[in-house]
Amino acid sequence: MLKKWILMLFSVSVILSVITEDSTVISSSSPASSSFWFNSLVGDQTFTFSANQSLEFDFYRNSCPNAEKIIGSTLLQLYNNESTVAPALVRLLFHDCFIMGCDASVLLNSTNGVEAEKDVIPNQSLKGFDVVDKIKSSVESVCPGVVSCSDILVLAARDSVVLSGGPFYPVPTGRRDSLISYPQIAIMELPAPTDDLSVILAKFLHRNFNEQETVSLLGTHSIGVVHCNFLTERMSNFNGTGQPDPSIEPEFLKVMRRKCENNSNSEFIDMKSDGAPETGFGSHFYQSLIRNKSILPSDQQLMSVEKTASWVRAYAANNFLFIKDFSKAMIKLSNNGVLTGLVMGQIRVNCSSTL
Ligand SMILES: *[C@@H]1O[C@H](CO)[C@@H](O)[C@H](O)[C@H]1NC(C)=O
Ligand SMILES: *[C@@H]1O[C@H](CO)[C@@H](O)[C@H](O)[C@H]1NC(C)=O
Ligand SMILES: *[C@@H]1O[C@H](CO)[C@@H](O)[C@H](O)[C@H]1NC(C)=O
Ligand SMILES: *[C@@H]1O[C@H](CO)[C@@H](O)[C@H](O)[C@H]1NC(C)=O
Ligand SMILES: *[C@@H]1O[C@H](CO)[C@@H](O)[C@H](O)[C@H]1NC(C)=O
Ligand SMILES: *[C@@H]1O[C@H](CO)[C@@H](O)[C@H](O)[C@H]1NC(C)=O
Ligand SMILES: *[C@@H]1O[C@H](CO)[C@@H](O)[C@H](O)[C@H]1NC(C)=O
Ligand SMILES: *[C@@H]1O[C@H](CO)[C@@H](O)[C@H](O)[C@H]1NC(C)=O
Repeated sequence: MLKKWILMLFSVSVILSVITEDSTVISSSSPASSSFWFNSLVGDQTFTFSANQSLEFDFYRNSCPNAEKIIGSTLLQLYNNESTVAPALVRLLFHDCFIMGCDASVLLNSTNGVEAEKDVIPNQSLKGFDVVDKIKSSVESVCPGVVSCSDILVLAARDSVVLSGGPFYPVPTGRRDSLISYPQIAIMELPAPTDDLSVILAKFLHRNFNEQETVSLLGTHSIGVVHCNFLTERMSNFNGTGQPDPSIEPEFLKVMRRKCENNSNSEFIDMKSDGAPETGFGSHFYQSLIRNKSILPSDQQLMSVEKTASWVRAYAANNFLFIKDFSKAMIKLSNNGVLTGLVMGQIRVNCSSTL
């Protein structure tokens, strides 16, 4: 445990020292310029907003000084009751930030029959909307109309990583919430678990994430569960062949089949169920890939080409490298395409509807 903390603190101070040259400040509450992180995001149409960012560390220090504490403590209560809220929030953040930036567009309900992002990705079984709503109402009860849903999601996902045993990484705040949802972009541009690796890498590259960053972000697949009905094809009729996916290690295929004997949605495989000694967030995910014991077919494909397999091996061998690269990639993801200032977006009161 102590070792994990030291690793965590070290990786954070590496990141922060780039920004502030003050490696002793490791909480996310240090006001500092975050422009460094945005430079790499400019230059792609998708990131138009990021050129005009004005995110700051502890943006709410005057308007809602306890915002980050309230988010953390409400999340902790929900997590203590049901630990799957943590992977759910990380996944929700990914879906939000990947489509037109971290603007809480994924949280919007459809209105007047117009579809929302939520409606067009039913097969991705996103969860955690109720968790965001609960956190938002805790914050609203103290500072009504001040803290955006997009910041709440970014901070709750960051704290979820820590609760799952992963690193703390600093994220600036000051995001505003979108006025619209982007269902068509979500259909076309979100990576699907059934996509070929080449398609997945192209979709990440379109968001300015290279192979190394993509492999490190997929490390979030070290936590959470996969419902068996997503795995039926992989276990019995892979890619229309009538056979299981040949890349599954045979003993592990038996384990998967046993856990999914009824092929039902109420059965699931825990992401750490391959007999790995470690649990929780960590590089054991990459070790499973090397042993051909990945649960998702899209993950196992990372071993099929050298440009990704080399990073899988690097992270499997070096948890510190993984945590450092993962933290950087999560910061980049969390700062992607944000709405800031006074004219862009709004601060929603209910995360599922615009004002
Ligand atoms: C950023 O804002 C400035 C001033 O409002 C504007 O001229 C410029 O076009 C904006 N850039 C982008 C990429 O939106
Ligand atoms: C605790 O989690 C269960 C689901 O596992 C849920 O039904 C219940 O409402 C939760 N209770 C609280 C107080 O959040
Ligand atoms: C979503 O699930 C439905 C029913 O299970 C299936 O018919 C459809 O092809 C799936 N869509 C995608 C994009 O996977
Ligand atoms: C699935 O089958 C298609 C067509 O037969 C092939 O092009 C594709 O590479 C296969 N995908 C995998 C992951 O084997
Ligand atoms: C599958 O269904 C049977 C009969 O309902 C039940 O006894 C068994 O526990 C189920 N298996 C799993 C892995 O849930
Ligand atoms: C994993 O699968 C690959 C390709 O099918 C094979 O070459 C390799 O020996 C397997 N590794 C293990 C540990 O089973
Ligand atoms: C919005 O949220 C408030 C406070 O949580 C709640 O009282 C109100 O009913 C919600 N409004 C809608 C339209 O859901
Ligand atoms: C959004 O949809 C969910 C689920 O259908 C519902 O519980 C919630 O009240 C809706 N939010 C608003 C603001 O209407």
